Amino acid sequence: MQKIIIEGSKRLSGEVTVSGAKNAVLPIMAACILNEGENTFTNVPDLADVQTMIKLLEILGAKIEFEKGNLSIDSKNINKWEAPYDLVKTMRASVLVLGPLTSRFQKARVSLPGGCAIGERPIDQHLKGLKILGAKTILDEGYVETSAKKLKGGVVPFDVSTVTGTENIMLSAALSKGETVLLNAACEPEVVDLANVLNLMGANIEGAGTDIITIKGVNGLNAVKDYEIMPDRIEAGTLMVAAALNQSDLTLKNCKFEHVGTLAGKLIQTGTKVTRFNNSIRVQGTDNIKSIDISTLPYPGFPTDMQAQVMTLMCLARGMSIFTENIFPQRFMHTSELRRMGADIKLIGNSAVVRGVKEISGAPIMASDLRASASLVLAGLAAKGKTEVLRVYHLDRGYDKLDKKLEAVGANIWRESY
Ligand code: EPU
Repeated sequence: MQKIIIEGSKRLSGEVTVSGAKNAVLPIMAACILNEGENTFTNVPDLADVQTMIKLLEILGAKIEFEKGNLSIDSKNINKWEAPYDLVKTMRASVLVLGPLTSRFQKARVSLPGGCAIGERPIDQHLKGLKILGAKTILDEGYVETSAKKLKGGVVPFDVSTVTGTENIMLSAALSKGETVLLNAACEPEVVDLANVLNLMGANIEGAGTDIITIKGVNGLNAVKDYEIMPDRIEAGTLMVAAALNQSDLTLKNCKFEHVGTLAGKLIQTGTKVTRFNNSIRVQGTDNIKSIDISTLPYPGFPTDMQAQVMTLMCLARGMSIFTENIFPQRFMHTSELRRMGADIKLIGNSAVVRGVKEISGAPIMASDLRASASLVLAGLAAKGKTEVLRVYHLDRGYDKLDKKLEAVGANIWRESY
């Protein structure tokens, strides 16, 4: 295993380029199941989760090449419809193949994702949507099995706003007979990126980015060429918090301000300076971080995927902040590690009360999930002394060489095997 070691308290400055979005590329890769051709993408991040999705699609029969951000997926020979437990257990987003496989083969067998470090993550809304589109679903030995005649359109009212649920049903409906309307659909930019790709393949989808999405089923989809994956707004947000620490000054290249607007607004309230340019954002930290409250919500509200990182910043703010986690109420595994570094955090139900301290100090700490590990790396950057972040495979699931990017702008950060 690898650990990341950080000698903290260094001021960062310079330019960092944001990579393509994990949560956009994964459903887009699953979308390739719906055609029988060679699809090509650019700006694809080099992540463990992308490698897992490559493995999964290869098991299904796809031919894939991935080099330097360019991904090609030839889906012509896909001839299997089972996603095995071994892969699904390492990446819950594997469930995104359920809809496309059911659509292509009128059947699918996908391992049910198990427990997760960030709490309960049911897929009942995915299954509800598939049933409305005419699929039968059963649970057999830990696998969800679907069977259907050709899927047909229908009205799918989601009980909760679900990102991958919306994507799975959008993928299922693209080739179904008639019209599908998704109500209370997720509005996240990654849903829009998926709809854009599907429309370029020949689908007829309107309303992505709003809570009502209409999909008129078409008879077939073509391969898409050179589609550029949207920039990762959570990586951008993580780097924005890095800039807010230690009075740093970072300019993020290849990012969309409108995707991080809620976070930018919050950072500005802390006293951090945020300047918007065309396709780039400059963030300058302050020596007097003010406290703010955070309540996570579906997009365009404050993203749950940024809660842990902003909590690291608030550990060093003046005064008290309250974090309320409305999406994943138990997503607080980072707090006990931050406490070991000297942070003052109390958990009450789905809230965390953070009282800012003057400084935190380096310590050996353990990453528990992807965004928690990002918050711990940030804490290491801010801390006095040496921090060792263990189990960084969590970080590598969703950040493309974050340590290298931070090193290039002045962080004293390196990896060691243990
Ligand atoms: N939910 C249900 N039933 C369902 C689906 C979801 O009750 O069938 C609930 C969940 O328990 C949660 C809420 O709905 O309380 C929202 O969950 P959602 O389905 O939107 O989450 P997801 O699609 O599984 C995606 C991202 C997550 C991100 C969440 C929320 C991908 C691959 N994953 O997960 O990303 O936290 O949306 O924005 O897009 C990450 O990147 O670190 C990550 C965890």
